[in-house]
Amino acid sequence: MTYTKILGTGSYLPKRIVTNDELSERMETTDEWIRARTGIEQRHMAAPNESSVDMAEQAARRAMESAGVTGEELDLIICATSTPEHLFPSNATQLQARLGCRTIPAFDMQAVCSGFVYALSTADKFIKCGGYQRILVLGAELFTNALNWEDRTTAILFGDGAGAVVVGPSEEPGIYGSVLHSDGGYKELLWAPQGPGSSAEDYPNRGRFIEMQGRDVFKVAVRSLSSLVGELLEHCDFDAADIDYLVPHQANLRIISATAEHLNLPMEKVIVTVNKHANTSAASVPLALDHGVRSGQIQRGHNLLLEAFGGGFTWGGCILTY
Ligand code: COA
Repeated sequence: MTYTKILGTGSYLPKRIVTNDELSERMETTDEWIRARTGIEQRHMAAPNESSVDMAEQAARRAMESAGVTGEELDLIICATSTPEHLFPSNATQLQARLGCRTIPAFDMQAVCSGFVYALSTADKFIKCGGYQRILVLGAELFTNALNWEDRTTAILFGDGAGAVVVGPSEEPGIYGSVLHSDGGYKELLWAPQGPGSSAEDYPNRGRFIEMQGRDVFKVAVRSLSSLVGELLEHCDFDAADIDYLVPHQANLRIISATAEHLNLPMEKVIVTVNKHANTSAASVPLALDHGVRSGQIQRGHNLLLEAFGGGFTWGGCILTY
C-alpha cells in the first residue's frame, strides 16, 4: 500500500514581534485580558516590504532543505492562503518561478484557517492516484493586513507567518486518512465581507477587514472539533491512546484544551504555539508542526492528529505517522 509521507518541514516568522502590551497602547485592552481569554502573549507581524509569498518562499526553502528536495524535483505546489499577495496570479505560481521548478501545476487553496489540512488532504489524493512524487504544501498568511486595527475584538487575535511540508509516496505508514467539512450557513460569524467578486450593491459600507462574532465562533469551534476528532479516529481506525501528539490549529488555548480533553490527551502531548504566534490562519498548523519537529518533541514514527477550524465554516483534520 502506498502512503503519503511527510519528508520535511519548514516555517518562517517575520522578525517583528508585537506584544500584548504594545497592543494595549493602541487600543483599549490589556495583556491580562488577552492571555486569560486566548492564551496569546505575542504575535509576529510582516515587515512593510514583506508579502505572503516572501514568507512562503522562506518556509518552502526550509522544508525542501529538510526533505533534501530541490525545486526541479517538485511535481506540484499547493499554497493554502486567504491573504494571497495578488488576486491573481496565485502565490503558488509565484513560488513555482522563485524555487526554480519545471512548469509543474501550482495553485492556491482557500479554506481560511483549515486551508492547510484541506491542502494536505488534496496532496494525499494526488500521491495516491500516482504520478506525483514530490509535492510542496504550504500555509502562508499576512493576516495583520486584513485586520481592522480599531476593532479590539479581532485585532488581538491574529499574526503573520508561513509553514510548509514536502510530501511524497512511501511504503511505510504516513497519512492514514483525512476528514473535511464545511457549513456555509455560518458565513457571517467570521468573514471579510467585501471581495473582488462582490456585487456592486453588496456590502457598500463595509471593508475588506475581518468581522467576527467571537463568542458564537468559539462555541461552534469547540463542538465541531470535538466531533471531528471522534470521526477521524473512527475513519482511520485509530485509538486515541495511540496518538503521540495533537497538532491543532492555533486560534485559542481554551479551544485547544477542550479538544485535547475530548481526546483524553494531557497538554504535554499537544503542540502549542498560539502563545507566541497567535492565530496565523492557514499557516498555523504547519508552523506548529515544524515547531514540534525542530524542538525535538515530534520524532519519526510518532502518530500525529492534525486538525483545524476556520471561516466558512470549514473544519477538518488527518491522522498520520510522521
Ligand atoms: N480587550 C478587553 N476587553 C475586550 C476585548 C479586548 N481585546 N475584546 C472584547 N472585550 C470585552 C467585550 O467588549 C465584552 O465586554 P462587555 O462584557 O462589557 O460587553 C467582554 O470583553 C467579553 O466579550 P466576549 O466577546 O463575550 O468575550 P469572550 O470571552 O467570548 O472572548 C474571544 C472573546 C474573541 C477571545 C473568544 O470569543 C474567542 O476566542 N472566540 C473564538 C475566536 C476565534 O478563535 N476565531 C478564529 C477561529 S479560526
